[in-house]
Amino acid sequence: MFHNIPESIKKRMEYLEELDTKDRIDGTPRMERLRQIPPETGQFLSLLAASAPKGEFLEIGTSAGYSTMWIAIACKLIGNKIITFEILEEKVKMARETFKLTNLEDFIELIEGDAREYIPNYINISFCFLDAEKEVYGDCYDLLIPNMVKGGILIADNAINHYETLKPMLDKALTDKRVDALVVPIGKGELVCRKI
Ligand SMILES: C[S@@+](CC[C@H](N)C(=O)[O-])C[C@H]1O[C@@H](n2cnc3c(N)ncnc32)[C@H](O)[C@@H]1O
Repeated sequence: MFHNIPESIKKRMEYLEELDTKDRIDGTPRMERLRQIPPETGQFLSLLAASAPKGEFLEIGTSAGYSTMWIAIACKLIGNKIITFEILEEKVKMARETFKLTNLEDFIELIEGDAREYIPNYINISFCFLDAEKEVYGDCYDLLIPNMVKGGILIADNAINHYETLKPMLDKALTDKRVDALVVPIGKGELVCRKI
């Protein structure tokens, strides 16, 4: 997977990495920033997605599609697609551009809207990356877990850098008898849950 990433994907990843760094340095307002995962988290997502059982792959919080590309790399390998949700029109535009430029459109379905309205439509979720506003993590967790297949993997970003805000959801996941879960200290801290 990592040995043959096409040039078009590498180029778009580098472009978005630069843009994300610049946004942080310039102090661009929070809602306008890309707020992407770092590359090592992307690789972590690819590995987990490629190892997930059969089922629907979801992502909550597309931004410009950086993390989606990492998941799509795994989808390309295993013949699945990632359904990704983004609520902001401007981000949707950027993500569409990302998927077009990288020829990943066959492996990605981008849905504009609040992911919470759509999650109940998916009842065989085998992989999900949750990376939206921290206030919606709890709602998303409650909607996702019952709809996940056995062995399905849920990863939630910001488990360490937003620990205080996410504490109620993290405590719930770490004691939830429906999953095995732990926080992995990679990137901003990833909560990883496996449905029992
Ligand atoms: C941290 S950024 C995602 C970064 C992206 N995963 C990446 O690493 O490239 C969070 C994104 O989630 C979107 N978002 C927030 N709440 C949402 C919701 N309820 N449904 C869909 N998207 C949402 C925001 O507009 C924002 O673009």
